Amino acid sequence: MSDNTPVQGFATMDGALHAEAVPLETIAAAVGTPVYVYARSLIEYQYDHLARTLPDGALIAFAVKANPNLGVIAALARKGAGADVVSGGEMLRALKAGVPPGCIVYSGVGKTATELELALRHGIAQINVESEPELHMLSAVATRMGVAAPVALRVNPDVVAGTHTKISTGRKEDKFGIPSARALAAAELARALPGLRVRGLAVHIGSQLTSLEPFEQSFAALGELMREMRGAGHVIETMDLGGGLGVLYEPGQAAPPMVEAYGAMVERVTQGWNARLIFEPGRYLVAEAGVLLTTVILVKKGVDRRFVVVDAAMNDLLRPSMYGAFHDIRAVCPTGETFIADVVGPACESGDTFARERRMDAVRAGDRVAIMTAGAYGASFASTYNSRPLVPEAMASGDRWQVVARRVPVADMIALESVPDWS
Ligand code: LLP
Repeated sequence: MSDNTPVQGFATMDGALHAEAVPLETIAAAVGTPVYVYARSLIEYQYDHLARTLPDGALIAFAVKANPNLGVIAALARKGAGADVVSGGEMLRALKAGVPPGCIVYSGVGKTATELELALRHGIAQINVESEPELHMLSAVATRMGVAAPVALRVNPDVVAGTHTKISTGRKEDKFGIPSARALAAAELARALPGLRVRGLAVHIGSQLTSLEPFEQSFAALGELMREMRGAGHVIETMDLGGGLGVLYEPGQAAPPMVEAYGAMVERVTQGWNARLIFEPGRYLVAEAGVLLTTVILVKKGVDRRFVVVDAAMNDLLRPSMYGAFHDIRAVCPTGETFIADVVGPACESGDTFARERRMDAVRAGDRVAIMTAGAYGASFASTYNSRPLVPEAMASGDRWQVVARRVPVADMIALESVPDWS
């Protein structure tokens, strides 16, 4: 990177880690820690990069679950992104952040009648229906409202995605989608039910995929199904190819597919489809554009281990304890010295561990530490376990920065509760 290239994301300048041009220390001092920090230019860069490599006219519907912060969705919406939502709450966020209803798709195995009604009332682009009972539910809601619901059938192609089992979604033992073998019958059912208009097919086989093959297999299967459906007289206008592109978490690990290779594969497989392509990337757009900034409370010695205890815990970033996921951990102001340590949080569980026996920057009490690549499934996955308030979030852009989610005072959390007056 040359000296006058603006920083996208996180880089060390003058010995200190920055979010774009903002020293992380500035944000930590002003907001306190733990705090998530996002680099807006990197989100925009990732979007542009993906948009350039996908076929013209494709809709990139950001999977809001990866990072539902309004500031993040709004940054992507301004670029032209749509949204993939999985709840009424995510839908309202996407709308509030400026995503046009016509660019919103709604996935999920258990949408309630209330949520389906909300979707129809807002006129979103399509509802990705995942089962026959859901077709019946949607038909009833749409008929009551006097509208035709735009439906895409989400298919389960029974493909092994080769990712962590908890984030595999396209095998026959997974709860997602309609088995491929029943998709045509489901389309017939949709045609027979009032209030439904089938307009597309959808597939999403998993997250953090590091190989192109499973993608290609599932896209090809979806293409076959599309031809079959059209042969049976169904109008298939949209083909939703889901999300799932992996990112590099651990330096030196197998690199995920290059977006260019993904784009070229999509171009080849979808040749002649004559349908609008929809993609639902989450992680690819935001993972690298976020860090969890935390402070070392103390460094303690066990019998034969060193524990770096930070003020972020598993409730703030669940991925390491949930999936054994690797996140790089860096001192905000590295001294050049390193040591081997476990990095742990204050929560009362041994699983509250961000890294085990990790060679890392030698840090001391009071030092700031950044847990990297935490922009996806970080804040969105947080809880208030141990009565720890949800982590605040800040966003940097160039030399500006702003809080985009306030820290909730513990008193406000407690105020939501009450002791029964009969006790
Ligand atoms: N579309 C659908 C229907 C999905 O279920 C998902 C993710 C996506 C798109 C976006 O996938 P992405 O492009 O982000 O891979 N909490 C886990 C990830 C769960 C993913 C769930 N579905 C983690 O922290 O790794």
